[in-house]
Amino acid sequence: MTSGRSFYITTPIYYPSDLPHIGHGYTTVAVDALARWHRQAGDDTWMLTGTDEHGQKMLRAAAANGVTPQAWVDKLVEESWFPLLETLDVANDDFIRTTQPRHEERVQQFVQALYDRGYIYAGEYEALYCVGCEEFKPESEIVDGTGAFEGLKVCAIHSKPLELLQEKNYFFKLSEFQDRLLELYRTEPDFVRPDSARNEVVSFVKSGLKDLSISRSAFDWGIPLPWDTSHVIYVWVDALLNYATAVGYGTDPEQFARRWPAYHVVGKDILRFHAVIWPAMLMALGLDVPRGVFAHGWLLVGGEKMSKSKLTGIAPTEITDVFGSDAYRFYFLSAIPFGHDGSFSWEDLSARYQAELANGFGNLASRTTAMIARYFDGVVPAPGDQNDNDRRIQQVVADAATAADAAIDRFRPDEAITAIWTIVDALNAYITDNEPWALAKDDAQRARLGTVLYTAAEGLRALAVLLSPVMPDATQKLWTALGAAEPLADQLLREAGTWGRLQPGATVTALAPLFPRVEQSA
Ligand code: MSP
Repeated sequence: MTSGRSFYITTPIYYPSDLPHIGHGYTTVAVDALARWHRQAGDDTWMLTGTDEHGQKMLRAAAANGVTPQAWVDKLVEESWFPLLETLDVANDDFIRTTQPRHEERVQQFVQALYDRGYIYAGEYEALYCVGCEEFKPESEIVDGTGAFEGLKVCAIHSKPLELLQEKNYFFKLSEFQDRLLELYRTEPDFVRPDSARNEVVSFVKSGLKDLSISRSAFDWGIPLPWDTSHVIYVWVDALLNYATAVGYGTDPEQFARRWPAYHVVGKDILRFHAVIWPAMLMALGLDVPRGVFAHGWLLVGGEKMSKSKLTGIAPTEITDVFGSDAYRFYFLSAIPFGHDGSFSWEDLSARYQAELANGFGNLASRTTAMIARYFDGVVPAPGDQNDNDRRIQQVVADAATAADAAIDRFRPDEAITAIWTIVDALNAYITDNEPWALAKDDAQRARLGTVLYTAAEGLRALAVLLSPVMPDATQKLWTALGAAEPLADQLLREAGTWGRLQPGATVTALAPLFPRVEQSA
């Protein structure tokens, strides 16, 4: 079911030393929903996620736990990061780990090629480094410490002391790419989205680029530089290359040509790495730059960026254990305009679960299937004559499907869900207005009752398809209950708005509540 149109999309690769929290989960479900949409639309889709396993942060965490770094990351990936994908019902096509040979060997090949082309030189370096960020900090992100760190320079993001590093380093000539990068942002205005992110990147690059230190010699948990094995490759250079090594860079030209270039979805904290350093590295080797970089906002808890180090971290399972994975996906994707910061609160999650999922969509599905069971012995009735009310629903469905697809093209799952929800609201109002329970009492209204319930069931058919990328579990249950002949996965998303796909005569089965009532604790 592919149209040939390639759609390759990635999450950042996560540091396994942190346990997965809802911030990581947010990026992952957003990418998964976008990938599922394109896959269901017939695009040649590939979704990649993975883990970023080298660097000083990982080495220190392993040492603190008394194990080798490899043993440490193996355990974390196995016990925490693979399970995250199940918890959130993520259908990734691949999972890359930067300690895999398929990655390490190709990273060396890439960096060697940069060296051979004269983009790398040796120099002395002295600067303040944040291990939390794995980054030498620019002046603007260095602040004076307070409390226990009084008198020290600390990282503005982590509020932890910076370390003065002084060593021989190899540098990548990033400064040479300033003009070409600005030209890229100018000619491809969608390269960085949303606009706020684009503006930040453009002004950062305009203010002047310094060459980038790309090797470290003070520790050895990393990929050795091929021409000087006393150095390991800077963890960010290693990490960014995952997007290429995972799709066959250097090993499988056919796969690489089919998939590359990718769309990268990242949190705004790591935008510059993706929108500045990464395209420059690719340009240096004459490879295509990414198709685009989309930076989403931060999840805030109690007004602060949620993070494990600040003890505001919430594990995704805390939410899915109570509300289920569909509600998790729906909540984060619908409640936060993609690209903006959003505050998480349990109250807001519960309220939306109840109003939108249980009372809105869930109730529509239950009562429609229940009425077909009761009034038509579970057989989808044939529609009779149609009036303006019925035709309006058809129009709402068609418009919503078109608007949702356009929103997904803009990387706005929130706007896609808003568009799709016009169907839920219109159908609930339609049922209330047409009172099928009253029509059922009058034999003369039998044909009208059939039209109303067919319209509701066919609207649900469209909803099942359109919402499947966001809520794969509930929509599959609904699909099964509707008795549709073909599998849900075969329904082309861009045809979901075409009216009349559900066949009269299909057998509808009882549907347990899609979003059961949640008992509130404390
Ligand atoms: N390993 C690097 C990325 C390398 S990509 C080549 C890294 N990893 S991370 O584990 O720190 O994950 C960062 C990503 O997790 C963010 O870019 C964002 O996608 C997600 N988030 C982490 N905390 C978040 C919030 N509080 N809110 C939203 N997203 C968050 O950086």
